[in-house]
Amino acid sequence: MARTMPAISARATLLPASPIRRLAPYAAAARERGVKVYQLNIGQPDLPLPGALKEAILGTDLNYLAYTPSDGEPATREAIAAFYRSRGFEKSKASDVICTNGGSEALLLAFLTMCDPGDEIICPEPLYANYVTLALLAGVVIKGVPTSAADGYRLPSTEALRAAVSPRTRGILWSSPSNPTGCVYTLDELRRLCALADERDLYLIADEVYGDFFFGAQRAPSIRDLPDDVARPDRVVIVDSVSKRWAACGARLGWFYSRNEVLKGAVMRAAMSRLSPPMISERMVQAVTRLPESYYSAIQTEYQKRRDVCLAGVNAIKGARAGNPQGAFYLFVELPVDDTDKFSEFLLKEFQHEGETVSVAPGSGFYASQPASKKEIRLAYVLESEQLRRAMQVLGFAVDAYNKRGA
Ligand SMILES: Cc1ncc(COP(=O)(O)O)c(C=O)c1O
Repeated sequence: MARTMPAISARATLLPASPIRRLAPYAAAARERGVKVYQLNIGQPDLPLPGALKEAILGTDLNYLAYTPSDGEPATREAIAAFYRSRGFEKSKASDVICTNGGSEALLLAFLTMCDPGDEIICPEPLYANYVTLALLAGVVIKGVPTSAADGYRLPSTEALRAAVSPRTRGILWSSPSNPTGCVYTLDELRRLCALADERDLYLIADEVYGDFFFGAQRAPSIRDLPDDVARPDRVVIVDSVSKRWAACGARLGWFYSRNEVLKGAVMRAAMSRLSPPMISERMVQAVTRLPESYYSAIQTEYQKRRDVCLAGVNAIKGARAGNPQGAFYLFVELPVDDTDKFSEFLLKEFQHEGETVSVAPGSGFYASQPASKKEIRLAYVLESEQLRRAMQVLGFAVDAYNKRGA
């Protein structure tokens, strides 16, 4: 009998490897060779877990590591609702929160419950790479609408967004503050998205996992700030997470926020099939209401300082260009190299300067469509300033070395 191997699904063959994690084995190999790798490829905050959250975990009775309700314990959902109320959103109710395994699962559940296979979601790009993969898992197509480095990756014109809408389009998805560009949409831009959703009967999926990372006195506008007759509750979904805001990526807890009862019912039925969010992490979130406002202002000050260090470093590299991001903790940078996929591998496989190198995410992975150029990278400024300063110098040396290869 012929020995054949069972095939993987057609869907699985389409899944791209994450541009953020794809190069991790090369980084590990570089470390094994004794090279110090400044890790700027992944958005994992280096700040310690807030004390109040740590205490909540330590205070949990670990004799009972149980399933919780599929949408989370009432106290978790109430803590999240209270957090939104503390941000001025008085209408926030625990019953509108469904806890998930990270914001990632909230996105997947959104795609699965809003769309049928072959349906489309439009999204300004560059975009968060995993949107494409999570959508593919649900048989959904992300249609990218280009933005421009020249204007700081602002929301595309309504005409451009409208032109991307087809009879299969079910929603508009964006992150603001943005991963990977750091762009923060204004309330007027959010209003424009709402108007288009009304015009074409679409869902609005606001990814606000970086909602507390903004620079300057003005808080990053949220879809929650708009009145119901503009951001209609039956259209709006908010995807959010503890990962960045509370420096707890490993907690794997996020949430799906909606006031659409039918949609929430569908998400809840899907959530029942995976039983429960992680209980220990829920206990941690129940403590967020105890965090003082000074916690948030301290992280804003710290990340603004880091952004400035990175921007100065990029500007010191001849021919490199970056915008002036107003939030999140990423810099989308154009480098004077021919191909950043190759350059990112070169950094880890061939290059070192005085025993040091940098790990970055190549820009091509942050597009659903073909990027206009291969010159972009994404930097996550998740190291303290002195290390960032040095990492940017090393990056500059690497650009020179890369361009001199074979010269
Ligand atoms: C824009 C954006 N949305 C969602 C997520 C998912 O985060 P998590 O699953 O850790 O909550 C991330 C993680 O990097 C992100 O950058």
